[in-house]
Amino acid sequence: MNNTIEPVRHGLIMAVIALISGALWAAYMATHHEQLHSAFEVQQAKLAQVAQQQQANAMNMDNMTMTASAAHQHDSSAQAAAHHNMEPNLADAARHIHSGSLAQDAMQRLLRGHIHFMGVGVLAAVLLLLTAFTSLKACWKKMLGWTFGLGALAYPPAWIVMGFRTVEMGPQAAEVSIMWLFGPAIALLFASMGALLVTLLIEWTGFQNKPLLQLFFQKS
Ligand code: HEM
Repeated sequence: MNNTIEPVRHGLIMAVIALISGALWAAYMATHHEQLHSAFEVQQAKLAQVAQQQQANAMNMDNMTMTASAAHQHDSSAQAAAHHNMEPNLADAARHIHSGSLAQDAMQRLLRGHIHFMGVGVLAAVLLLLTAFTSLKACWKKMLGWTFGLGALAYPPAWIVMGFRTVEMGPQAAEVSIMWLFGPAIALLFASMGALLVTLLIEWTGFQNKPLLQLFFQKS
């Protein structure tokens, strides 16, 4: 057993770290729930105030321009259009709210950090144990140890960072801002799962003894 798990031990360690991080993050969220939620609500209220102020300023400007000169009527309508163009950003954010308020969306994303630390931690640990018992060469098992392990460690924090940015940036912009971490983490997890599935299928069909596949499999 000791020798069997040796090539994937580093991946199992990373999976266990993901599980511990998930438990710690849940404990933090449970003990700071009100603090986090009210901070998001304050942030949301401030943004709404700024938006209202912007709208009021834009309307004042429109009125002043309209009464100043009829000759500039065409220009002023163009200006009004420009002011109204500032609003879609806020309207856009509102369109992407799922749970009734941005603050709640942010909390849900923070919670998904916990769910995925635990879920992907278990997933990586179980699939790495399966990997350990395949007839892949040790170097490929080691590689899967890294890809599963790093995927499990990188994916859940992306939800947490996205959660903290949700109110300030808006749900969609927050998502885009953390794609640099989401993308590679998901790619690592899917590539690892795909590689394991292909390995199991090859072993099932007995093709691992074909000369072309000797690069990947131990001689049986
Ligand atoms: C490669 C692995 C995974 C990926 C890419 C992934 C992706 C996602 C995404 C994108 C969502 C949000 C869906 C939405 O917006 O409606 C989600 C939600 C969820 N995932 Fe995963 N997930 C993965 C693994 C897992 C695992 C292993 C678990 C097992 C515990 C899990 C449990 C959940 C749950 C319970 C939700 C719903 C959370 C909620 O309603 O707030 N996921 N997942």
